[in-house]
Amino acid sequence: MQSKLNKIAKDTNFFLKAFIKNQKKSNLIVPMSYGLFSGGKKIRSKILIDIGSLFGIGYKQLITIGAAVECIHAYSLIHDDLPCMDNDKMRRGKPSTHIKFGESTAVLAGNSLLTMAFEILSYPGLNLNEKIKNNLINKISRCAGHLGIAGGQYLDLNYEHKKISKKKIIDMEIKKTGKLFSFCCAVPLILKKRNRSEVQKFENIGADIGLLFQVADDIIDYKGNSFVAGKKTGKDKKKGKATLISLLGYENTIKYAKNLILKINNKVRKYGPNSKNLLETLNYILNRNK
Ligand code: IPE
Ligand code: IPE
Ligand code: MG
Ligand code: MG
Ligand code: MG
Repeated sequence: MQSKLNKIAKDTNFFLKAFIKNQKKSNLIVPMSYGLFSGGKKIRSKILIDIGSLFGIGYKQLITIGAAVECIHAYSLIHDDLPCMDNDKMRRGKPSTHIKFGESTAVLAGNSLLTMAFEILSYPGLNLNEKIKNNLINKISRCAGHLGIAGGQYLDLNYEHKKISKKKIIDMEIKKTGKLFSFCCAVPLILKKRNRSEVQKFENIGADIGLLFQVADDIIDYKGNSFVAGKKTGKDKKKGKATLISLLGYENTIKYAKNLILKINNKVRKYGPNSKNLLETLNYILNRNK
């Protein structure tokens, strides 16, 4: 699994470096690159490739679309660490972007990474017809905006130090993290011009994968090691974050996560033997320590 992730990371970074190199220089390139290339598991690209393998989509195309997803992900982490949000000084074992370059630069580098995702999806080198590109851009925009990452991050902060129901916690985690996974799962069906209900089915699978991913991240915060995780752990409790662990306790949360894996696997199994790729990723997601 790790070697597969390493290859995806290498190929994604190769694409992104070339893409940035092709543009004129600016003062934001260095902080943007810091947020993009300072590590990161590239798990969202792996999900894209896993679902792509169910539909026979080419690797190169998926790496390019994954690069756009990783830009949005990197932006969301830069902003998530800002003092006005989670106020975290360490990310991927290094000083957070705002610690290294200052707050205003971090905000602007984040903004530029968000818009770079749209540049990648609309650039001519991504050889897709205009209608498909438009569908991809429309979908990723909605996953990043007020009904996706940004809206979910708002709820995450708004719920601090409050008693929040299970339903609301799940809704918040699906928005802040799940929606980008929904996009990844929808991409292969959009490329294959499948109908709306099939796309929706895979968006729902993606939401569950993202929820699993966020629950596992919350577990790492609860009992993980800061040095291994590359970010401070034990902070969700201090900040009064509303998580399933804070509501249900550790054991029940693990049970919940294992059930999610069963549920997702039941839905994708019927797409053939390549579904084992996704199952491998799901188990990695739950058992990882960083
Ligand atoms: C961390 O995401 C933030 C969450 C959405 C939980 P990742 O764990 O994917 O971060 P990197 O890219 O691997 O550092
Ligand atoms: C972040 O969730 C979700 C995002 C969309 C960025 P967390 O705040 O739990 O992520 P970490 O633990 O700081 O990586
Ligand atoms: Mg946060
Ligand atoms: Mg955080
Ligand atoms: Mg966390």
